[in-house]
Amino acid sequence: MRLLVLGSGAGGGVPQWNCRCPNCTRAREERDLPPSRKSFRHTQASIAIAERGERWLLVNASPDLCSQFADRAELAPPEGSLRGSPLAAVALTDGQIDHTTGLLFLREGGELTLVCTDPVWKSLGSTFPIVSILGHFLPVRRLAYPAELASLIVEALPLPAAPAPYDPPSNESGHVVALRITGKKSGRRVVYAPGLPGVSREFADFVAGCDALFVDGTFWSEEELAPMNPERQRSILRSHLPVSGPGGTLAWLSGLPIREKFYIHINNTNPILDPGSSPAKQVREAGVQIAYDGMLLRLYPSPS
Ligand code: MLT
Ligand code: MN
Ligand code: ZN
Repeated sequence: MRLLVLGSGAGGGVPQWNCRCPNCTRAREERDLPPSRKSFRHTQASIAIAERGERWLLVNASPDLCSQFADRAELAPPEGSLRGSPLAAVALTDGQIDHTTGLLFLREGGELTLVCTDPVWKSLGSTFPIVSILGHFLPVRRLAYPAELASLIVEALPLPAAPAPYDPPSNESGHVVALRITGKKSGRRVVYAPGLPGVSREFADFVAGCDALFVDGTFWSEEELAPMNPERQRSILRSHLPVSGPGGTLAWLSGLPIREKFYIHINNTNPILDPGSSPAKQVREAGVQIAYDGMLLRLYPSPS
């Protein structure tokens, strides 16, 4: 199984267009460096997974999708055909702007297979009508979780996070999910949770035994929320448990017997994005890695 990190930043990416925080400033200073040296730049989070051959499942469609595809040879149209794509389907963890806007840029394709929950499917056909718009360009086929495609099994765990700000308040579950993707040949298993409101017993059971785990790294601490208005603060905290602190994700991850643990969906204000910072050091010392754009993870078949 191969996994590509196409983008590792939270909504807005790094640099965010209107932000002058230290990370965004450093990312802007790297403007003229070759891509491999742009260590502060993070496009908005998205990963792609292939179990075998060249059929990729995209997990979330970032607003940066076009440049993310352009940068990866693996996602180029197959040789010998003028048009085409190794993209098999797109699976969504939620219906948020930073995870769905990229769908609009898949409109040139022949057909789109979209895997999502009922509330996300509803939202994308009404309050944030991306799928209705796409339907004018190509057929959109929807699959529900659990789904099986491209030699992968994709399962979802609903999380108690807030619906998107434009969705009406609802108690329906499934506005935000964590995904578990299992390779049918390799037996390898990845969990992707870029929005994690808390570490519940259900979530701990869901990740148990996986080979690689990608966890919400939006904020280091609640203090980063200070510049936001109180309502926005509450909604963000309901959706993103910070990394640090006794109840944070790092304390939980550090004791977890999973080989490959990563933070992803990292906000531009998060000090872990500076490799020289003490928070970044604490993350490394806890055995957790910080995902970066262009990262390739290979998971070889489990010995049988
Ligand atoms: C989130 O992760 O909660 C959203 O992306 C926030 C946003 O972009 O509005
Ligand atoms: Mn987000
Ligand atoms: Zn910033």
